[in-house]
Amino acid sequence: MGLKWPENLALYKIQDRCKELILGDDQLKEVMKRLTDDINKGLGKKTHADAIVKCFVTYVQDLPNGTEKGKFLALDLGGTNFRVLLIELGDNHFEMKSKIFAIPQHIMLGSGEQLFDHIADCLAKFMKEEKVQKEKLPLGFTFSFPLQQLGLTRGMLERWTKGFNCSGVIGQDVVQLLKDAIARRGDIQITVCAILNDTTGTLMSCAWKNHDCKIGLIVGTGTNACYVEKQKNAELFDGQDNGSGKVLINTEWGAFGDDGQLDFVRTEYDRDIDEHSINPGKQLHEKMISGMYMGELARLVLQKLTKEGLLFNGKGSDPLFTRQRFYTKYVSEIENEPHGTYNNCRQILEELGIKHASEQDCVNVRYVCECVSRRAAHLVSAGIACLLNKMDDPTVTVGIDGSVYRYHPHFHNLMVAKISNLVNKHIKFNLMLSDDGSGRGAALVAAVASRK
Ligand code: GLC
Repeated sequence: MGLKWPENLALYKIQDRCKELILGDDQLKEVMKRLTDDINKGLGKKTHADAIVKCFVTYVQDLPNGTEKGKFLALDLGGTNFRVLLIELGDNHFEMKSKIFAIPQHIMLGSGEQLFDHIADCLAKFMKEEKVQKEKLPLGFTFSFPLQQLGLTRGMLERWTKGFNCSGVIGQDVVQLLKDAIARRGDIQITVCAILNDTTGTLMSCAWKNHDCKIGLIVGTGTNACYVEKQKNAELFDGQDNGSGKVLINTEWGAFGDDGQLDFVRTEYDRDIDEHSINPGKQLHEKMISGMYMGELARLVLQKLTKEGLLFNGKGSDPLFTRQRFYTKYVSEIENEPHGTYNNCRQILEELGIKHASEQDCVNVRYVCECVSRRAAHLVSAGIACLLNKMDDPTVTVGIDGSVYRYHPHFHNLMVAKISNLVNKHIKFNLMLSDDGSGRGAALVAAVASRK
């Protein structure tokens, strides 16, 4: 059954407007080339200071082998929630208790002291509830922001990302800030054994089960990846070789493009998102991909198409025209029904005050969501293909966490297909969902460190 011609024309125009969101393999290969160059600059002693993709040395040299034991505390800050965890590792099994605490907006944008007092307060409450407040437990701190590390337990904040912007923290050692906050209270004691990124936690927690895991990826509120590099290539690594000859590198690839390297694929929607963000000019790669921005990207496209009369008969609604009002989870929900079924789509449009959507509007809304989420999956795939191409191992597992990867119905399959196209042909890879990378990973880093 054909469409009536005016609808056909609208569809044609919509596809035409969305064309710039579709990246061909040639463009993705160019992205790979530029990202590979930037990663090498981040690793190089002479080039690191000016590098955009920082490739921070994590000082994690050993992957877990399943024999790690003990009771650990972990803190996990950096996504939508803050969590405190108590983890007990035994031979090939683990137990975990955790509690989620909100970080109110006024703290995310307040002073560093307020933030760390809040963290220490949540930790103390949790330790009391779990009746471990008298113990001095080792703690791993998953702090998912760019850190210039000076060792496993020292890390200076380079910049805030995602929704955070607390004053007085940039350039400071965040482990010290945590210790100071705990000392100010005086009611609990801990030993900080490690500070790590969520990508590192994810890699470690996957490697615990799967020894091929050499890459950790997050596609959640933000996006980033870490991988196992040879110490000789990590020119800034100044630690003692434990014998592995390897060290994990936190790429901080969210910042890729901050010097214009991605301008050839950025669109007016990307520029709009950036201009209205709390960190304009920063994290441009992340802003094309991650959950903090995906819904808003889709909304900007839908808004434009509506104003051009190509959607909803040209009649939008206040919510559709309100920033941040189209949530990233809508993209997943709309794509999570078979083609031709639009129950979720209609319900979401109704939530947005659009009751007059035609069937063709639903087809088009889905198309816009697909363009935005596919582009994100393809950019992430290009990044992973770069890292895979650096590896010597014949088979590499990528451990992945984050709400976008976890909840978007097609992200995994899109990535498998695209990485296969882009990666050097002899490399075999698996994409593995990490269950609770950040939390368990923090305990594992602490455990591996105390194994020494
Ligand atoms: C942001 C942070 C990075 C983190 C990522 C995923 O890009 O800068 O450290 O890994 O978000 O949470």
